[in-house]
Amino acid sequence: MSSTSEIFPTWIAGLRKWHGWLQLSAERAYMHAEEEYNSHYGVAAVETREGEGFCNLLQAQQIDTTGPALEIGCGTGYLSFGLARHYPGPDYLITDPSPTFLRLTQSQFAPDFAGTTRRHYAVFNADDAALLPAGMFSVIALRSTLHHILKVEDFIAACARALRPGGALVMGAEPCETGFLLMAAVAQSIPHTLKAAGVEIRPAWTEKLNDFTSTVQFCCNRDIDKTNGEDKHFFGPYELGRLGEAHGLRLEFLPTGSFQDFAPPYASAFHCFSSFFLMYMQFCMRFEDPFMAAIREHLKPQLKFIDDCYRSHPGPAISSLFLLKKPRTGAA
Ligand SMILES: C[S@@+](CC[C@H](N)C(=O)[O-])C[C@H]1O[C@@H](n2cnc3c(N)ncnc32)[C@H](O)[C@@H]1O
Repeated sequence: MSSTSEIFPTWIAGLRKWHGWLQLSAERAYMHAEEEYNSHYGVAAVETREGEGFCNLLQAQQIDTTGPALEIGCGTGYLSFGLARHYPGPDYLITDPSPTFLRLTQSQFAPDFAGTTRRHYAVFNADDAALLPAGMFSVIALRSTLHHILKVEDFIAACARALRPGGALVMGAEPCETGFLLMAAVAQSIPHTLKAAGVEIRPAWTEKLNDFTSTVQFCCNRDIDKTNGEDKHFFGPYELGRLGEAHGLRLEFLPTGSFQDFAPPYASAFHCFSSFFLMYMQFCMRFEDPFMAAIREHLKPQLKFIDDCYRSHPGPAISSLFLLKKPRTGAA
């Protein structure tokens, strides 16, 4: 038995419990209604492939999985279900600052759920990552969560400390700066394009387009206080690679990659810029059908131009996978 497999249960047993959850941080509700999160994103069934793909990716990348896994920002459990089913390590700590999200994630697991690992649940805010014990986790998993964390470098430093040698901080579905900037530039061209085609632009459409482009600008900017924004940052491989390196972690960047790409049928979830852009406008920005029909018809030349630039290699990187690996002890 390794020392960590003894240390984790002892640490967990010593944590305070409040309203049924282990308490590592103060509770904090999400900025949007948690109960509506799945319907907002069109998630109608329990997701299994993200977590399965995640575990296959760990294996492909030769990440140590003998110790506990920590998930930060579980939301409704999009990654958690498959991870609990396939993670080979002994323990899996599922966390979110929102107890409502913890409850929604926990409710996915029926009493007869056949998992590979023990599940634990904690209220945890990544801003408190420095409180995590050193060398405790083999894997720290995030899906679409890094961009919500205020002090990214402090977070990466704390994760580097909390990881075991050979482990990794694995972050999927994270927004990339250049890809979102490209989407915003295309979005800015919409009013002019639709007007030229004789389509009447509704005030609600203008409002949403402005909302999208100003969010992109907010997340790209580095010189403003982001404390009160829910979405805070966009990333690039150079920046995250440099931050990782400063704290002894090595970056593996998979542009346009997602966890489910590594689960059967092993197909890339990202097809091309145009399909991602249209999906984003429909499900994330919730534009209405007449708007979607108008941009499908009149934005074709702009979208085709970008698709043609990436006809034989992955890109542009809009949402991507970042693995920050902690070298094994004695590794060069
Ligand atoms: C976009 S949702 C993603 C949820 C889930 N991982 C998924 O992929 O569907 C972002 C999640 O990050 C959580 N979150 C926001 N700020 C956080 C923070 N500072 N620390 C930890 N989690 C945070 C939210 O409560 C929410 O569950």
